[in-house]
Amino acid sequence: MKKQDRVVYVCQACGHQAPKWMGRCPDCSEWDTLVEERTAPAPGRSGRPGTGVDMGPVSLSDISLDREHRWKSGIAEFDRALGGGLVPGSMVLVGGEPGIGKSTMLLQAAGRLADQGIRCFYLSGEESSQQIRLRADRLSIRADGLYVATGTLLEDLSKTLDELRPDLLIVDSIQTLHTDLLPSAPGSVGQVREVAARLMAWAKASGTPTFLVGHVTKEGAIAGPKVLEHMVDTVLYFEGDRSHAFRILRSVKNRYGPTNEIGVFEMTEAGLTEVGNPSRIFLEERPEGASGSVVIPCLEGTRPVLVEVQALVGPSPLGVPRRTAIGVDPNRISLLVAVIGKRMGMEMGGQDIFVNVAGGLRVDEPAADLGIVSALISSHLDTPVPLDMVAFGEVGLAGEIRGVSQPEVRIKEALKLGFGRCLLSRGNMSGVGAMDGMVVQGIESVVQLTDLLWAGRA
Ligand code: TYD
Ligand code: MG
Repeated sequence: MKKQDRVVYVCQACGHQAPKWMGRCPDCSEWDTLVEERTAPAPGRSGRPGTGVDMGPVSLSDISLDREHRWKSGIAEFDRALGGGLVPGSMVLVGGEPGIGKSTMLLQAAGRLADQGIRCFYLSGEESSQQIRLRADRLSIRADGLYVATGTLLEDLSKTLDELRPDLLIVDSIQTLHTDLLPSAPGSVGQVREVAARLMAWAKASGTPTFLVGHVTKEGAIAGPKVLEHMVDTVLYFEGDRSHAFRILRSVKNRYGPTNEIGVFEMTEAGLTEVGNPSRIFLEERPEGASGSVVIPCLEGTRPVLVEVQALVGPSPLGVPRRTAIGVDPNRISLLVAVIGKRMGMEMGGQDIFVNVAGGLRVDEPAADLGIVSALISSHLDTPVPLDMVAFGEVGLAGEIRGVSQPEVRIKEALKLGFGRCLLSRGNMSGVGAMDGMVVQGIESVVQLTDLLWAGRA
């Protein structure tokens, strides 16, 4: 082995280097942080200062902007998640659980891009070429400019890339690809990082946009180092319950566009189809006149989406009552339950509490607080909230309702879907102009909530 190919084990927490792997870093005492790396030749070995490459500084104002130069696949929801299309030379990581639809999505997008004359290369380390062909047939992809190969060795891929010179590369998945230079198994942290770094260097040097598929561990992180997410330009996560047909492609990082932007799809017999109006879909099966159901206008990236939150509060047969939250943060629910107990005098401590966001969506915005509180007390009192009402606002520990961003965008979405009443923080009222067909009610504290929800009723 050449000297510069020596392998060292580097602690990811403190940077300590060891000649062999250890379970615990001798320096900072963290467990399982040592990762193998190839030692780079020492800097400055050439005897010259730096590498001798002219960085070529230019005046900021002289840099040309190719702003509109994005490749659009024509799958609007996919392009939207990317922030309006694919930026040439960018590297995009697509993460998600096995079977969620990553390969299907990328094959469909590649098919559409190839139709536009973009030469796409799809490398799979997981399926045979026949399987990919079968899938492509099912998705009615006929593009000539879509090249497919199977393989797992990075050095083979480099050779193929030199010959084929594709305009777009898809690697499915980063965990199956490995390099000869490291002795560790494919999928190990060291391998994933090394392979990604070399693909990144190639993508930047050749200006070729590259998609990496990444599997997600049980904890929900992309298997491999966090550094993978830092390295790439864009990280898209495929979310959704496999038992639901809906799939959400969410950008959690984007150097070229807004984050948290989502694309909504439905998995069908013929692959993923776009859902242009997600609010309608998510509300389709909303029960009428049931207590505990409240609609919240949330913001996903730049797009408003109406979601239905359901709560079920009831006496617990157990000594320790159950708390289950699906699609919302359980800690947030505990906090809101405490606020309801203290500020509204509705003690739910001994009750079983279940909260669910319909349609398999996740809601992380504090703007959902007011809606969740309404759903909880609606179930607790077994009284449905008005069917045509939506609610949003952050709830503070004192029970105060705080304003959230872009109230008008949220209200307009609710209006579009036929809702006629909106409950929001008093502070947000000033940001909202008069709207035909929508009664807007401001609220300052949860104390007023029962009156506002059920005004005129006993
Ligand atoms: P896939 O793209 O292979 O998932 P991933 O690459 O994220 O592991 O998706 C596989 C699932 O999607 C599988 O359960 C079958 C289903 N599917 C459809 O329902 N319709 C289709 O047209 C295709 C291609 C897959
Ligand atoms: Mg796959």
